[in-house]
Amino acid sequence: MHRFLTILIAILLGLAFFWLVVMKVVSRIAASLGASAPCPAAVGWLVDNPIRRNYMHSLLDRVGIRPGERVLELGPGPGVFTVAAAKRAGPQGRLVAVDIQTRMIEQVELRARQAGLTNVETHVASAHSLPLPAASVDRAFLVTVLGEIPNPDRALAELHRVLTPDGVLSVSEEFLDPDYPTAAETIRRVEAAGFRLAERHGNFWLYTLNFRQSVESADERAFHAAGDNFAAVA
Ligand SMILES: C[S@@+](CC[C@H](N)C(=O)[O-])C[C@H]1O[C@@H](n2cnc3c(N)ncnc32)[C@H](O)[C@@H]1O
Repeated sequence: MHRFLTILIAILLGLAFFWLVVMKVVSRIAASLGASAPCPAAVGWLVDNPIRRNYMHSLLDRVGIRPGERVLELGPGPGVFTVAAAKRAGPQGRLVAVDIQTRMIEQVELRARQAGLTNVETHVASAHSLPLPAASVDRAFLVTVLGEIPNPDRALAELHRVLTPDGVLSVSEEFLDPDYPTAAETIRRVEAAGFRLAERHGNFWLYTLNFRQSVESADERAFHAAGDNFAAVA
């Protein structure tokens, strides 16, 4: 019995080490090479579990969806958050779910149908080229997605394009995800894409950061315009 327990603990520690260390290292190397890959639809059950369903509502509270908003959910996976998010947007609002995997979007559509929702729109498309017009979204949210996108800077430029000037970009990350970036890394990356941090929620293990488009002051605009003129003359 003692021997059995020792073997069991060793296996559990080995699995934890593999998931929390090896997978994170592999994922970071892949990201630095621009070779990140989407979480396969076959393991969608990993993100659709009772623990996550339990904190889904508090996470969505932090995202802050309001009735009547046009909301983009980028990378919904099997749709753990989609139905609750669409209900928050309400019949006057719209939830647009965009995922690169057809099998994920099929699961989102099934959930929306089963919930009797008519305000959910789905697209199989890449974050690198969103199938949405400019300034057509009031709020965009991503939960454990940014680290999986091969070119996150390009995706952020697309999110900047589709959001209205006073729109909100909400990024949530969980430590257990192999692609987890720290909050500092996320802030650096998202602010470099022309957003500014407006709200910060959660902790190291699970955080949500809400950004708005950064608006240059008149002085900053004048400074940049002078720089452009200088570059043109030089
Ligand atoms: C880890 S899952 C998260 C699913 C869901 N947001 C959740 O937290 O339950 C990441 C999702 O992002 C999608 N994804 C990854 N890369 C993408 C890309 N380049 N464009 C669009 N979706 C992408 C994957 O297909 C997958 O469904």
